Amino acid sequence: MDAVLSTLFYSEGAEIYTLDCMAYFMLFMAACTSVTLLFVNVPYGRYTSSKYGFPVDARVAWFVQEMPAFFVPLCLLLWTTTANTSVLPNQMLIAMYFCHYFQRSLIYPFLIKGGKPTPFASFALAFVFCIYNGYMQIRYLSHYAEYPEYWVTHPCFLTGSVLWLVGWLMNVHSDHILRNLRKPGETGYKIPTGGMFEYVSGANFLGEITEWVGFALAGHSIHSLAFAIFTTVVLSSRAVSHHKWYLTKFENYPRSRKALIPFLF
Ligand SMILES: NC(=O)c1ccc[n+]([C@@H]2O[C@H](COP(=O)([O-])OP(=O)(O)OC[C@H]3O[C@@H](n4cnc5c(N)ncnc54)[C@H](OP(=O)(O)O)[C@@H]3O)[C@@H](O)[C@H]2O)c1
Repeated sequence: MDAVLSTLFYSEGAEIYTLDCMAYFMLFMAACTSVTLLFVNVPYGRYTSSKYGFPVDARVAWFVQEMPAFFVPLCLLLWTTTANTSVLPNQMLIAMYFCHYFQRSLIYPFLIKGGKPTPFASFALAFVFCIYNGYMQIRYLSHYAEYPEYWVTHPCFLTGSVLWLVGWLMNVHSDHILRNLRKPGETGYKIPTGGMFEYVSGANFLGEITEWVGFALAGHSIHSLAFAIFTTVVLSSRAVSHHKWYLTKFENYPRSRKALIPFLF
């Protein structure tokens, strides 16, 4: 794999320049996406539509589209020269990333119950995004990111790590609640209760946003920041859409529940 990278980049300077450009491009895409999402919902799940291509079974879509987010980084760690994987801050950040994507790509898809098919366009975009982001995060952390050893005791790293952990637990717990709303064979929707759903309609999204904001705080790089912002744009829009959808669908939907931020929004 080193040979592939050296064919693509004539020097390490060229590769880190590319990684930085990728992060800025992700920020640009986040801005474009935030405007687009004012007019349309990302078309999958309850907003799935045949306008965006043929339907891909939900479990297959989630497994295949998320797989590169785990395997591209794994290949980078196993088969490229990694200058910084022996340093504790880098190791911890890489572990956070893998913990999330081990669950998301190898466990989550197989637990889905009655999920709506994903249109091909959404599936293909998610697949490309996972390759792009997987390479950007882990190549940067494994080879280029330089942190002093004491960074693990810095307030930014400590706060970010705690946020990451709280967010991850909230995300996994909230997805578990949603999954258990359906009995075998059911595909309809019910009002979620328990955990952070008592406060917000998008509890799983709040968890995921908190996770990647924590990761960005701990990682202190443009690459992790771009991912946190992109995630926030996509998932906050989805939380707001779900919240409005619940309010129109269920007359008895709890009125005190907010869309994304408890008590506020
Ligand atoms: N990092 C990122 O940029 C990013 C982007 C997208 C998603 N994600 C993460 O991926 C996970 C799934 O995202 P998602 O957008 O698919 O979440 P979602 O719309 O909340 O749906 C999650 C699952 O629960 C089911 N479900 C949702 N609400 C339900 C209800 N009221 N009653 C019964 N079943 C319900 C859905 O079924 P249906 O398919 O039938 O709706 C789907 O299988 C989340 O943890 C999210 O944070 C991350």
